[in-house]
Amino acid sequence: MVTWAALLTVCIWIQTQTASGQHKCPSTSRTQVDYSVKYPLPYFQTDKPIQNIAVNTIPDQPEVYVASQNVIEGVNFTLGKIWEVKTGPVGSADCETCQACDIETEPEAPVDTDNEVLIMDFAVYPFPYLYTCGSTLHGICHFMEIDSSKPVPKCLYKRGNNSPTFCPDCVASPLGTTVTIVEQAFISLFFVAASVNSEVAQRYPRRSISAMRQFSTEDGFEVVSKGLTVLPSLQDSYKIEYIYSFSSKDYVYFLSLQRENPSRSNSAFQTRLGRLPVATPEVWMYREVVLECKYDPKRRRRRRDVSKDIVYNGLQAAHLGKAAKKLADELRVSETEDILYGVFAEMNESGEPQRSSALCAFPLTRVDHVIDVGVEACCKSGPEQLSRGLCHFQPCESCPHESSEGNVTCTAKPTLVSKPYNRLDFFNRQMSDVLFTSVLVTTIGDQTIGHIGTSDGQILQVILSMNTPIVFANYSLDGSAVSRTAAVYSEDSLLFVVGNKMFKVPSAGPGCAHFTTCSKCLTAPLFMNCGWCSGTCLRQHECSSQWNKNSCAPVITEFFPKTAPAGAVASSDTHIISVSNGTFCTVLPERSSSKKLVCRTKEISPNNNLTITLYVQEREGQSRYSIDGTAEMSGFSVVEPSITEIRPDFGPVFGGTTVTLTGRYLDSGIKREVFFADKKCNIQNVSTGNGGLSSIVCTTASAAGVGTVPVKVIIDKFEVETTKTFLYKENPVITKVDPLCSFQGGSKMVVQGQNLDSAHKTVIQYTSKSSHVQPYQRVCSGTKNATHMVCWAPAFPEEMPEDKSETGEISIHMDGKRIFLRKRFDYHPNVKVIPFENDDHLLPLKPGETEVSLHHSKLNTVSTCMKIIMTIGGVNCNAQVLLNELTCRVPKGLVIPSEGLPVKVSVNGEVYDVGTVVNSDTSQTSVIIGIVLGILAALVAGAGLALVVMINLRKKKRGKK
Ligand SMILES: *[C@@H]1O[C@H](CO)[C@@H](O)[C@H](O)[C@H]1NC(C)=O
Ligand SMILES: *[C@@H]1O[C@H](CO)[C@@H](O)[C@H](O)[C@H]1NC(C)=O
Ligand SMILES: *[C@@H]1O[C@H](CO)[C@@H](O)[C@H](O)[C@H]1NC(C)=O
Ligand SMILES: *[C@@H]1O[C@H](CO)[C@@H](O)[C@H](O)[C@H]1NC(C)=O
Repeated sequence: MVTWAALLTVCIWIQTQTASGQHKCPSTSRTQVDYSVKYPLPYFQTDKPIQNIAVNTIPDQPEVYVASQNVIEGVNFTLGKIWEVKTGPVGSADCETCQACDIETEPEAPVDTDNEVLIMDFAVYPFPYLYTCGSTLHGICHFMEIDSSKPVPKCLYKRGNNSPTFCPDCVASPLGTTVTIVEQAFISLFFVAASVNSEVAQRYPRRSISAMRQFSTEDGFEVVSKGLTVLPSLQDSYKIEYIYSFSSKDYVYFLSLQRENPSRSNSAFQTRLGRLPVATPEVWMYREVVLECKYDPKRRRRRRDVSKDIVYNGLQAAHLGKAAKKLADELRVSETEDILYGVFAEMNESGEPQRSSALCAFPLTRVDHVIDVGVEACCKSGPEQLSRGLCHFQPCESCPHESSEGNVTCTAKPTLVSKPYNRLDFFNRQMSDVLFTSVLVTTIGDQTIGHIGTSDGQILQVILSMNTPIVFANYSLDGSAVSRTAAVYSEDSLLFVVGNKMFKVPSAGPGCAHFTTCSKCLTAPLFMNCGWCSGTCLRQHECSSQWNKNSCAPVITEFFPKTAPAGAVASSDTHIISVSNGTFCTVLPERSSSKKLVCRTKEISPNNNLTITLYVQEREGQSRYSIDGTAEMSGFSVVEPSITEIRPDFGPVFGGTTVTLTGRYLDSGIKREVFFADKKCNIQNVSTGNGGLSSIVCTTASAAGVGTVPVKVIIDKFEVETTKTFLYKENPVITKVDPLCSFQGGSKMVVQGQNLDSAHKTVIQYTSKSSHVQPYQRVCSGTKNATHMVCWAPAFPEEMPEDKSETGEISIHMDGKRIFLRKRFDYHPNVKVIPFENDDHLLPLKPGETEVSLHHSKLNTVSTCMKIIMTIGGVNCNAQVLLNELTCRVPKGLVIPSEGLPVKVSVNGEVYDVGTVVNSDTSQTSVIIGIVLGILAALVAGAGLALVVMINLRKKKRGKK
């Protein structure tokens, strides 16, 4: 039995035969998912691009604070603005943060404040603090106590403590800063990572990595660890971009993007993770490791994949999250463990991320382990010469490889672990034309969900799994890139930023409408809560008609054939197919599948445009949904095939004749057979014309003997009635072929034999002795009767060497059967017979001369195999073929009349007129000349006489006057 479960799309075959293979059920023609469906999502809009957001989860309905240039706005649960605090421009009366500080401003400094840091501290009582640090005022910070009213910024800058050369309160760098706040013994510690250049690092100096805490007076910072700063000589050439920082358990981590080698400006980019312990945030405890997200074809065990490793070197965004049960099991970590998720891109030498992205997960216990092992490798004795790295923070040195126990000198130094820690891309390098720019990872039940923003403004929502990540939503927020700044807002929603809009994105996907088929809809992840609602995939509350989560109606995508012969046509108890209510079509389970049903009908009378109805009622099985309902498709016709003509209607007993049967609806149904008597005629082609006109071309089989046989056409199981017959005639026999040679261009051949007219197609085939040459063929097209047939040898299509001949064998096939073979057949160069070589093609013969000769080219090569006849005045003169000449004597008794005699040469029946032979008689010539001269003399004498007479007449006239 067919497993009916999960059956949805049905392509029906009526009738029984599937063997012909002519019809294939369309498998991919239906789009199952349409990612262009638009989902309008709620958003909050600012004037200038959004730079940072911070979520306050304390109220029942969380709030979010949105920072853009010169302003921080409070936004409530329904994305309405509740307050704003101006942070710039510096010097303007509006700037609330500026007024809170007693700080000297520099006249040349930029005045517009970009927000660099926006972070909540929930440890303070009774209301949380919002910290903000800007690009102006030397990067100092402010805090605001968040209660229900509009907050008032307070300045974190103590004038006396700071100077242009020493500035603990200068926190943020305009080149980029990240801050993580950690609670340590009721004190909030600030871990800061900032991008610096010489300007930022030297005047009101800011540090690359440092730790601070607030004075209890809440008016400035105390440096806990002066941290690390890029060495002055490298500050302008070596940029470290800090992308994300976070704390987990005992450590704070900083993620950065920087070049591999500080002294080589074209070295490759790398992603690095730096780590400081919260309890002892001292420089000497600083550790760093290179993180790699890669695609490794070997580890993916894809044998046919010959591509090389791809390392996605450039981190674009990261998020600290967890893995729910399924993914945690795959990663072999516990569900409680912190996992760093990062989206990476391939980054070129100049630091531009390419459209080739990946997502990797780094469990933090593993990261810590890798760091510990790496530091140990530097400090225990070993053969490898390792470097301590971090040559941008400290002078370069090699690992000492000292193993004396208890000596902490080696481990008490900032160290870069020598081996990168790499993880595999979730997407198996399939994200090859997209640039990921943002990532958040949440869990729903036992699934881990990745929410990824792209440079095209798309959001991809994916169930993460190392084997096959499932993209369940992919939709556009806005046209431009999704910002790295993103946040988890509540249990079921997230915040993503595009330009100056902050969108609230549901974690379970924006909706279901992008699933365009019922099966795709009902097999969508359960948490999406999709159901089928009269042709559309919707959530229950969106559906105004019946919302069905359990079953789909079947769909007929196509059916074959469109026409079936009248009589027989196309049962299971769950699947019923009927043709225009009345006739049932019996389903043949062994030929059917979830995508194809084959059924056999009972007798139907001819009819046009019938409707196929499919009714399916499945019991609920193991699958997520069942098939239940009906589907219809019209356009099925039942026809009466007929045969009107068979051409030709005879052929030789040995068969091989190509016969065309013409009639109506011979193309109907699925399978057809043609029989002449009980022998199958091999079908070559079935063609369809207008108005049911159709034809079958087949090749006859050999018959038992001579005679007329009945013709039978069976379409599917239905026999087409006809009185037409076919006559098998005696086989043709060839007795003689002449000549057995040919010119290169192909020569006429005369074939003699018996019954040559019983077959239809005669082919002359030449097979060269040189085995690499394909046989040449030519179909006979000359006159033909039972005993005599004129054919042409195939032309020899290749160059023939001058004066050389080519030998092979010749065979003659009639209706596909070889009935003549001669082992030797020669090809000779084309010949020329050159006419008499004067203007009139006249050949004068002196008295007594009888030899007539003319020139030719290559005629001697065929003189033995072809008939060469030369005639003078129609009489054969028995010519002799010499090397360059053809010569004969005027036959005795042949009189050449004065107008001469025509000379002709016939080569293999082809006749050339070469000219006329005449007698050259001198006496006759002189008589003619005499007569001509006599006439001329008489004319001159006559003219003279006339002149004399005229002169005399004129004189007489004058005299009369
Ligand atoms: C959010 O703020 C807007 C505008 O101030 C206001 O209309 C709306 O009622 C507020 N929503 C809530 C849930 O407080
Ligand atoms: C520890 O090792 C350093 C060299 O790395 C050495 O100078 C120092 O004397 C050692 N101290 C002890 C107590 O072994
Ligand atoms: C065929 O179906 C139509 C509409 O469902 C119905 O009106 C008609 O009576 C049916 N005919 C037969 C022969 O069952
Ligand atoms: C076939 O029948 C269907 C309804 O049964 C109708 O919609 C369609 O137009 C018909 N097609 C033709 C070609 O008659």
